[in-house]
Amino acid sequence: QQLGVVAVGFNGGQMKKGVEAAPMALIEAGLLTQLQEDLEYEIHHDNTVHYYENDIPAEDPDHRNMKKPRAVSAVTERLSSQVYNYAKDGKFVLTLGGDHSIAIGTISGTGKAIRERLGREMAVIWVDAHADINVPEMSPSGNIHGMPMAFLTRLAREERRDIFGWLQDEHIVNTNKLVYIGLRDVDRGEKKLLREHGIKAFSMHDIDRYVIFYLPSSGYTGLPIMVLVVLSRWRSLISAMTPPIHLSFDVDALDPQWAPSTGTPVRGGLTLREGDFICECVHQTGNLVAMDLVEVNPSLESVGAAETIRAGCSLVRSALGDTLL
Ligand code: ARG
Ligand code: MN
Ligand code: MN
Ligand code: MN
Repeated sequence: QQLGVVAVGFNGGQMKKGVEAAPMALIEAGLLTQLQEDLEYEIHHDNTVHYYENDIPAEDPDHRNMKKPRAVSAVTERLSSQVYNYAKDGKFVLTLGGDHSIAIGTISGTGKAIRERLGREMAVIWVDAHADINVPEMSPSGNIHGMPMAFLTRLAREERRDIFGWLQDEHIVNTNKLVYIGLRDVDRGEKKLLREHGIKAFSMHDIDRYVIFYLPSSGYTGLPIMVLVVLSRWRSLISAMTPPIHLSFDVDALDPQWAPSTGTPVRGGLTLREGDFICECVHQTGNLVAMDLVEVNPSLESVGAAETIRAGCSLVRSALGDTLL
């Protein structure tokens, strides 16, 4: 299969330096070689980590409580067309971030390509400790990596072209085509939005509950059943036929025990095995068209950085079909 890779060294959606170094670290750890040699993907990559220096404006004052709004807008607009250019030819698109604000670029790009190529609305599986659906005014931090789903669903809207006004109807995700897995740190305003719009979310509570409820009756390890339940419930919820899926994986969905080197770690998360299993199940639907791996920050921990990078590589391999012997 054809695989388009975009390496996005962008950190402007949050305040900590270091997340821009993740694509290089993941590639140096051998990720692309593994995909090519072990999983036999034909890789299309410009062998460049994009830092988008020329797209980042010198002057970028806060706007509606957003920090660096013009930089994030310009970078994601550029990224959107990079992703679109791969996806329009039917290539699978793997984007290595960068902070999670880049999902504004990746999801808009695949969403547009899938609409044009297949005439279908794409679904998004967002695996994360956080919902990242803050409308700018209600964000506690002003960091845009906590807002991408708000712009992608149009719960947040901005007319100015240089501040996400470039997002058109063809880029947008319907709230009934979005599902969260792994949530455990959701802001008050976000909870209200999820409730009001009936957005499907499987929190860590749900993950624990399915394991506990299904384990005794199955006589089998709880994990597969948990994920099957998650996926089957969600599938019937949105449509009879499974739509094309964009998987956006924030490494902080994993417990800090497995992925400590990330900007906003939250304890009580997924084990690496649970994360891999979710990726494997999504792969097995046969409908996965794109994946983002974001928020790996190799400079935050000395020991933990290598582990976090290895976990990130494992998640990507799982999503791309590294399941069976
Ligand atoms: N909800 C918090 C905020 O809006 C944290 C977001 C963390 N997002 C992330 N992509 N790690 O700032
Ligand atoms: Mn997160
Ligand atoms: Mn996130
Ligand atoms: Mn972060």
